[in-house]
Parts: sequence; C-alpha cells; structure tokens
Amino acid sequence: MNERKVISEHFKPYVHSKNAYKGGRPAPKGLKSYKLSSNENALGTSPKVKQIIHNSDNFNIYPDNTDEKLRIALSIHHDNILHPDQFICGNSGSEVLEMAIRAFINEGDEVILSNPCFLPYHTFSTRAGAKIVDVPLHGDQYQLDVDGIVRAISNRTRIIFLTSPNNPTGTIITSRQIDALLSQTPSDVLIVYDEVYYQYSDSEEYKTALTYVKKGHNILAINSFSKAFGMASLRLGYGYTTPEIANYLRLFQRPFLINKLTVAAGLAALSDKEFINITIKHNLNQREYLESEFERLGINYTPTQGNFHLIHSPIPTNELVDTLYDQGVMVRDVGSFGAPGKVRITIGTDEGNRALVKALEKIL
Ligand SMILES: Cc1ncc(COP(=O)(O)O)c(C=O)c1O
Repeated sequence: MNERKVISEHFKPYVHSKNAYKGGRPAPKGLKSYKLSSNENALGTSPKVKQIIHNSDNFNIYPDNTDEKLRIALSIHHDNILHPDQFICGNSGSEVLEMAIRAFINEGDEVILSNPCFLPYHTFSTRAGAKIVDVPLHGDQYQLDVDGIVRAISNRTRIIFLTSPNNPTGTIITSRQIDALLSQTPSDVLIVYDEVYYQYSDSEEYKTALTYVKKGHNILAINSFSKAFGMASLRLGYGYTTPEIANYLRLFQRPFLINKLTVAAGLAALSDKEFINITIKHNLNQREYLESEFERLGINYTPTQGNFHLIHSPIPTNELVDTLYDQGVMVRDVGSFGAPGKVRITIGTDEGNRALVKALEKIL
C-alpha cells in the first residue's frame, strides 16, 4: 500500500487561520463599560420580543421546516412590493451572505469588493476559493468607484459586493451610482447589496434594493435583525432577490434552519414599528451630538448614514483603542477592514456617548 498522507495535506490550501473572522474583545472587568464596538442597538430589544421569548414553550418539538411565516411577514414589512417567495431567511445576515457565496462561487472565480468593507466578504469568498478583486472606495468621502468596478469585471466575475450604508465608513452609494453600475453589469453577475443599516439612512439619495429587485435585476439584498431590530444575539437575517435566485438559494438551507425562539422573536420585532422609530430617532439625535463633539475636539470623522462613526485616530489606533478600553469604552480598530489608522465607534446610549466624549477629551 502506498504511504498515506497526513491529514493536513487535505486541508484546502486557500483556507488559512488568518482569514478567520475575529470579533471584538470581551468587556473590561470591574468597570462600568460601554460597548461601542459592534454596531448593536443602543436601546436594547423590543419589549414585544422579550415577551414572546418569555412565553415560548414546547422546545422538544422541531420548529417549522420552512421559513414561510417569516417570509410572509417580511413581504408585508417591505410594503408588499415583493412576493414572500422572494425572501430567504438564515441565522444572521452573515449566513445568507455565506449561502450566496457557496451557491455561486467555484474555485478560481472572482468577486469584486471595495475596501474598506465588511471583512466577511473577503473571508467567506476566500474560503470558497475565489480570487478577490479589490476596487477601493475613493476619496476622503469613500465614494464607490463605479467605472473601476466596470473595468474590473471579467468572465470569471460572479459576485459584486456593494454595501450601503457601508461598514466601516457609514457612507452610502447613491441611487444614481447604482443605476450607472447596473446599466453596465452583465446579467450573469450577481450583485450582493448589503443594506443591514438601511433603517438609519435619512439621505434622499439613498435607496434600498427593493425597486431594483422588483424590476428583475439579479440583485440579492442582505438584511439583518442584529442592528435596528436589536436582536444580534438571536442570529436572524434575510435576503430578498428574484424568484429564480431565491429558489436556487433555498436549496442551500439546512433542514429546520431557524430555531423556534428566533422565528417568534423575528415576527414580534416586525410587528413593533414603534421600537424601530424610537431607535432611528435616538440614532439621529446622538449622531448630531457626537458629530458636533468630534468637531469641537478636532477629531476628523466621516459623516455617517449608519449607527456608527469612522474616525481618524488622533494617536496610533491600538493606543486609542486600549486607552478607551481602560476607561470602559470599547471601540473597534478597523485596520483589518481595509481602513488603517481609523477607528469605528458605534452610536451608543446617551450615557455611553457622553462617556466616550469624556474619555476622548482626557486622551487629547
Ligand atoms: C455590513 C454588514 N453586513 C452584514 C453584517 C452581518 O450581520 P449579522 O450576521 O449579525 O446579521 C454586518 C454586521 O456587523 C455588517 O456590518
């Protein structure tokens, strides 16, 4: 018998630990702390969600083997513009993203992304064997380079990742830019349009992917219950797309995909419009407060359409992150997202934001 190989020789050569997603640090011990590092909802979770979880029972029984109830509720939530069959749910926006990558990428295919952007586009695509083609956002306002993306499209391009509002910059892609890109993108390329922060945008130039999907473009919108809905720990997300793509993606779902508590929580969250409205209002007020404080302190920031700010760190980023951490304020160094020298700070509670400003004052 031939000599057998060692197991690691069968590991995929393009899957490395350096591609693994690293989350933020745990909260500092023995200190009142404010987590401004993961873009969660500062106001917590809807009381309706908490109530439904409290009242849930019969955990010995498998949940529904379909996400139909959620899809119907999502279709209504998005003004009945799309059919429930055009929605696809998963255990987080990240999972829907990964499902799409698994469904469309074969080894050697190309994906186009625009750094700085959400790291998993890179990690998930690399894991699937894709070649990453980076067409960076340009200028200090981090604008999408539409012409650069069009030039980068090749016969191997399968996915173009767009994010609006973008993490970590907080900037949007205008509807005019999307129109320009769509008119020049071959129809066999999937556009993944990540809009998990859409509720926070108040720009007239902003559009979700709804109208584009309705027109039949091959766009998959990615959405999440982790942000404005305040359900990050429950892991629920969804996409919406053309019926053809949705039905194909459904083949990649596991049986009994979403746990019963999360489905109930998602339905309750969708029914509580008041909580979302309060969340949006809080974010707009605190966004204004923080931007005026950044200006007072001379901190260079990018005006945001999300629930976080990207700031230019006035001292080395690791020093800023560590010094704030020692004062109980947790923020995120986003060098790994393609933004060296920058730090991302989630808009928190009134108290958390004041603590941040106080800590920044001390450092400066
Ligand atoms: C741009 C973007 N997309 C997707 C996600 C994924 O959210 P989740 O997996 O919690 O639904 C995040 C989370 O931070 C994000 O910032």
